[in-house]
Order: sequence, then structure tokens, then C-alpha cells
Amino acid sequence: MSEVKFFSGENIPLEMHKVRIIQKLNLVPIERRLEAMTEAGNNTFLLKNRDVFLDMLTDSGVNAMSDKQLAAMMEADDSYAGSETFTKLENKMIEIFGKKYFLPAHQGRAAENIISQIFVKPGSVVPMNYHFTTTKAHIVINGGSIEEIPIDEAFQINSKDLFKGNMDIDKLNAVIEKYGAENVPFVRLEAGTNLIGGQPFSLKNMQEVREVCAKHGILILLDASLLSDNLYFIKTREEQCKEMSIREITSALSDLSDIIYFSARKLGSARGGAICTNDEKIYLKIREFLPLYEGFLTYGGMSVREMEAMTVGLEETMDENMINQGPQFIAFMTEELLKKGVPVVTPPGGLGCHLNALEFVDHIPQNQYPAGALASALFIVSGVRGMERGTLSEQRDENGKETFSNMELLRLAMPRRVFTLSQVKYAVDRIGWLYENRKLIGGLKFIEEPKILRFFFGRLGTVSDWQTQLVNKFREDFGDSL
Ligand code: F0G
Repeated sequence: MSEVKFFSGENIPLEMHKVRIIQKLNLVPIERRLEAMTEAGNNTFLLKNRDVFLDMLTDSGVNAMSDKQLAAMMEADDSYAGSETFTKLENKMIEIFGKKYFLPAHQGRAAENIISQIFVKPGSVVPMNYHFTTTKAHIVINGGSIEEIPIDEAFQINSKDLFKGNMDIDKLNAVIEKYGAENVPFVRLEAGTNLIGGQPFSLKNMQEVREVCAKHGILILLDASLLSDNLYFIKTREEQCKEMSIREITSALSDLSDIIYFSARKLGSARGGAICTNDEKIYLKIREFLPLYEGFLTYGGMSVREMEAMTVGLEETMDENMINQGPQFIAFMTEELLKKGVPVVTPPGGLGCHLNALEFVDHIPQNQYPAGALASALFIVSGVRGMERGTLSEQRDENGKETFSNMELLRLAMPRRVFTLSQVKYAVDRIGWLYENRKLIGGLKFIEEPKILRFFFGRLGTVSDWQTQLVNKFREDFGDSL
């Protein structure tokens, strides 16, 4: 069913790299995993890595680095101002994105902070294909609000639409009409739309968004954090782009954007962030904020070693054989789970494989956080750490009422070049077992609930003793095994 191209006739995703450094993993017994989950308040963010077997929490800052990245780190030029390392990164940014100005930031949300402070005022409305948690928080904290206007298919868990991250052009026109172009500081397009399952937008869609924005004099802000997956999907799924190189597609997307920012924890497989633009006025405004929040203009809160790695990582992103591993492994995992009847988001996206908790545990009401409960249960039975992307990741409204998420997903991220196929098969096997025993999974309730971005530090308890029953059933079926 997948349009993703595999190299082998047996549909085996084939890595175009070999592993030369390894890190030992622990698989602790299920009883310890239950204890660890309880200590972590059923929040996978609060687990200690020593208790985790496969860390599928995120792809952020945990992608495997290449030999060339590691080698480049040794050549870093360490100086507060004017380091050669900065010039190398700046040149690479200009080469790839074709924008005149580059500003470093210590990570993606740092760029969001500065951009929001500059452009968002009380009453501002920012239309976007979908929000990301930190993006929304920065816009709201500056008095603005967001309008999510993806195409309707975005919320269909299973769809044939290959670009569920597309923006709905009619809705965009309607939002601008409703609030007035003067209240829309920019339209934000997120590549590889994170919270709806790593779904891409098409080049054609961005061209249409551009037409509307140009008519009204509105800026386009591209969040390129998940660009590498989106590039791969444009290349493999969009008819008009089949003959274009990844570099040409990048350049086409960049030409349609006024400001690009990204988390280099994802794009570039390093740890950092970046902003670029062609507009001198915008550049100068952003530059004023850099020393306040990030550091000097020539490092922006990043270590010079990471900047060297980022320069090489960005270049590697332009190589189809480097960026295909993630999407191909995700497609493999998605298809294996479908064979077992497990509800997953389709078509497979980038970033990770996404389980649909609303169907997986359809007996758990949304106010008991089905995706959070599934994350907790999966860790207990497998040591696989995923991330809740549902109601827990939302915030209560001003009256303290839950804002139910459009989707309740358990994201199983596939950090690039990190896991082997047998590890993916192990995860599939345990998820299959959990699916057969899904009725044993129960809900969660808050014990400690922070006001802002509660999913990071919130602690939850179970609504019944379902976890003990789950462990007992596991022992019945698996005997002494881990
Ligand atoms: N935009 C998108 C689309 C992201 O996915 C992220 C981070 C950010 C911005 C913020 O970047 O973490 O460098 O500050 N996503 C991570 C994740 C946290 O796990 O999906 P950051």
C-alpha cells in the first residue's frame, strides 16, 4: 500500500549506512518497568533512560550522527565572536536556502520566542496548517491566537491523501477575511506536521498559500524542523517533483517563504536552531534580540562543535539516500502493525509511527487521557518509550475546562539512523500483544498538573489497579521473559 520505495523485492527497508559505534541498551524486567512508570507519574518524559529499552520519545537531538559530522566537530573554531565555524555554517545555510541572512538560535523554540515577540501582538491571529506545542505557547504568551486550517483529511486517521499536512486555501481566505490582513502577522506552514502524525504538505499547496499571502501582503513563516521528511515525501509522492533533486525542492520551498526557522535537533541531526530571511529589516529586528536570549550573533547559544555537526548534517539532508531511512522504517513499522489490525495513522508520515489511541483503547474516555494511558501501558509491557500527543499535550481553557484534542495519538518516534530492523520488529510484536489485551488498559488522572505545557512535568495516577492486572497477564503469557 505504501508508495515509499523500498530497495529490496521483499519490502525490506535498506539502510544506506553501516553502524560503527554502538551504545549498550538495558531491558529491565517488567516489574521494574512498572515501578519506574509509577515513579515517573505515568509521564514518559519523567522516566530515567536507564529504565528505557527503545527510546521512541522523540527524534529531537537524538538522531545518530555520521562519521563526517563527528570528524567536523574536531575542527571547531572556538571563539566568542567571528569564529570560522560560524562562517562555515552561514555559508551552508545561504547555499541551501538561498537567503541572504542567517541567525543562529540555541533550538527551535528559541527562534519561536524571538519571532513571536517581534510579530505577535494582542489581537494577532496566526493561521497555520497545525500548531506545535511550543509554537502555540509563544504566540499565546504574546497575546495572539492561532487558527488551525489544515485540509479536512488531516484529521482522518486513515486516508489516501498523501499530503495531509496541506493548508486549506478556502479556510485561509476565510480567516484573512474574518480577522483582516492587518491582524495576521504571518501565516505559518509547518513541514512534516508534527502533531497530526508527521504528515507533509506539497510544493503545490505552498505555492497556493503564497498566492493568497502575496495578495494581502502577508508574510509566510516556514517551520522547517521536519523538513527532511517533507522533502522526501515531496520527491516520492508529488508528481511534478519526481524529476527535481532534493536541493531543487528545498530551494523552491525556500523561495516561497519570507522567514524560515527550524530546530537543528531535528533538521541537521545536531543540537541547535536557525532562522533565515532575505529581508534586511526583519534580520535587523531579530538580531537585536539575539544577545538578549541566545548569545552573540556568531554562536546563538550553540556550541561550536554542534555548529560544525549541523553544517555537515544540513549537507547530508540534501542526499536522498540519507533522508530516506526514517520514512522507510516508519512505513515498514506502520505496515507490520496494520497486518496485526493495530490502528495506526496512514499514510505513514515522517518523524515516527503513530498509534491511534481513540480506537486502540476506545473504552477510555478522553478525560482519562487515552493516549497517555497507552503510552504508560506500552512502556510497562515493552520498555518502549513513546510520547503522548493528545489531550494531555493540550492546555485547559481559561475556565479550567479540558480542551479535547482532535486526535489522541501515541507517537513512536524513529530517531534517524538509530534503531535496527529487529528492534522495530520487537516493538511491533509487543504492540501486537498489547492490542490483543487492550481491554486491560485503564485511564489516568492528574496528581500534579502544571499550568503551562503540562505534559512535560505533570504527574498522573491510574483510575484503577489496571497496571497490576496487565503485569499479571504478561507473566501468564511470557513466563520469565523480560
Ligand atoms: N517546531 C516543530 C515542528 C517541532 O517538532 C519542534 C520540536 C519545535 C518546533 C521546537 O524545537 O525542540 O528545538 O525547541 N519538537 C520536539 C519533538 C520537541 O519531540 O517533537 P526545539
